[in-house]
Amino acid sequence: MGNVSFENKTVIVTGSGNGLGKAYALEFASRGANVVVNDVGGSVDGSGAANAPADLVVEEIKNAGGNAVANYDSVATQDGGQSIVNTALEAFGDLHAVVNNAGILRDKSFSKMTEEEFSSVLDVHLKGTFYVCQPAFNHMKEKGFGRFVNISSPSGIFGNFGQLNYGAAKMGIVGLTNVMAIEGAKYNIKANALAPNATTRMTEALFGEDFAKMFNVDNVTPLVVYLASESCEVTHEIFTAGAGRFSRIGISTDVGYYNPTATADDISENFDKVRDLSNPVYPGSILDEMPLFNLAMQQGDE
Ligand code: NAI
Repeated sequence: MGNVSFENKTVIVTGSGNGLGKAYALEFASRGANVVVNDVGGSVDGSGAANAPADLVVEEIKNAGGNAVANYDSVATQDGGQSIVNTALEAFGDLHAVVNNAGILRDKSFSKMTEEEFSSVLDVHLKGTFYVCQPAFNHMKEKGFGRFVNISSPSGIFGNFGQLNYGAAKMGIVGLTNVMAIEGAKYNIKANALAPNATTRMTEALFGEDFAKMFNVDNVTPLVVYLASESCEVTHEIFTAGAGRFSRIGISTDVGYYNPTATADDISENFDKVRDLSNPVYPGSILDEMPLFNLAMQQGDE
């Protein structure tokens, strides 16, 4: 084994009774982690509940000689989030990493989407990430160590038809992660977001048969596990993984067009300059955008 070890580390993986989360949980356990396998055991649209998915993953980990405990709480309530974190502390006495992976889909085109379809998806993905992260973050702050891998989606970062609720939640997770990374910096807490691509019950209808074979869940796991490890020193970044491709996604800006007396007509004439991203800057906080205003002024004066 290389340097990515989880000996004496405790990891929570939410929604790890199926799909990608299950793959993450098994790999963490095989690398020595104590794993909290959280899952409500519902269907893709969030209906129903069962203990079996989490129990089966725990059984698989234990049969392979690993350590795991099940938790069946929903991430979508504050009590649920607290209980998931308590499960880790009560069973293993500590908490080092959290993968916020639990998720549901309620796809519908925007004009037909109900408020319930919008809210239920935000409750699980965005609020769920908040509810689990906050008690975990406060524990890690005291201990001076923590890793968060918050699962986003290309549907939020890039957009996808019929997923306005899901896209909003998944991009919200990027915003939440950015601030966690900034506030966690002085406590050695790293927070990164990851947008996976893999064939699971959630996506099998979306990917055709050939695509489905290429996008194995095991091709996402290595990056998630690395980002959750002590070896990971980066924070405040976004990554994508799928089918053997691992890559960073950047949110960038550029100097742009400078004209303090600009009218809408000036914008119209110079819109290419406004849109230009040929010298991208990737701000690590709002402060990092400030030098661009000075640079724009200087270039305006030239
Ligand atoms: P999946 O449906 O196989 O797994 C999701 C798991 O989350 C299920 O076991 C489900 O019971 C659990 N879950 C749902 N609501 C929960 C709640 N309130 N509390 C606790 N557990 C809950 O789906 P998949 O594909 O493995 O998705 C995992 C994550 O990856 C999700 O956040 C999903 O949005 C995200 N994702 C997946 C992509 C893919 O290509 N499969 C693409 C982009 C993002």
